[in-house]
Amino acid sequence: MTKQELIDLLNEDLKHEFHHMHSYLHASTLVTGLHRHEIAELLLEEAKSELEHCHQFAQLIVHLGGTPVTSGHPIDELKSVTWKTHPINILEDAMAMEDVVAARYSERLRQTEGHENPETSYVHVFYEEQIADSWKTAREFQLMLKKHA
Ligand SMILES: [Fe+2]
Ligand SMILES: [Fe+2]
Repeated sequence: MTKQELIDLLNEDLKHEFHHMHSYLHASTLVTGLHRHEIAELLLEEAKSELEHCHQFAQLIVHLGGTPVTSGHPIDELKSVTWKTHPINILEDAMAMEDVVAARYSERLRQTEGHENPETSYVHVFYEEQIADSWKTAREFQLMLKKHA
C-alpha cells in the first residue's frame, strides 16, 4: 500500500474515532436512572479513551506525511449512539458501535497484511492495538448487559 492510501484509510477511521468520542461524551450527559452517576462516569472515561485514539490516528497520519481531518461524522448522521437516555439502550448501542469498529479494523488488518513496506507494517501493528481496544470494550458492555436467570 502507498503512503497516500494508508493516510486515506487512517483519515476515514479518524472521522469515526471523532464520532465515537462525541457519542460517548453526549451519552454521558443524557443517561438517566438510578445508576446515572456510575454509567455517566464510565461513558466519560470512554470518551477520554476515544480522544486518545483520535490523537493516535492523527499523529500517525502526520508521521506518514499527511494532514489529519479535524472533525468526524456527526452523531445524527451515523445513528450509532443516538439520543437515548436509558442505560441499557445506551450500552446496547455502544456495544454495537464497538463491534462495527472491530469489524472495520479487522478489514484494515486484511488490507495491510501484505507488509509491502515499513509504513504498511507499522500501520498493521497500529490496527492490531486498536482492534484489541474496541473488541474488549464491546465484550465489557456485553457482560454489563447480560441478564441473569
Ligand atoms: Fe476508538
Ligand atoms: Fe472505542
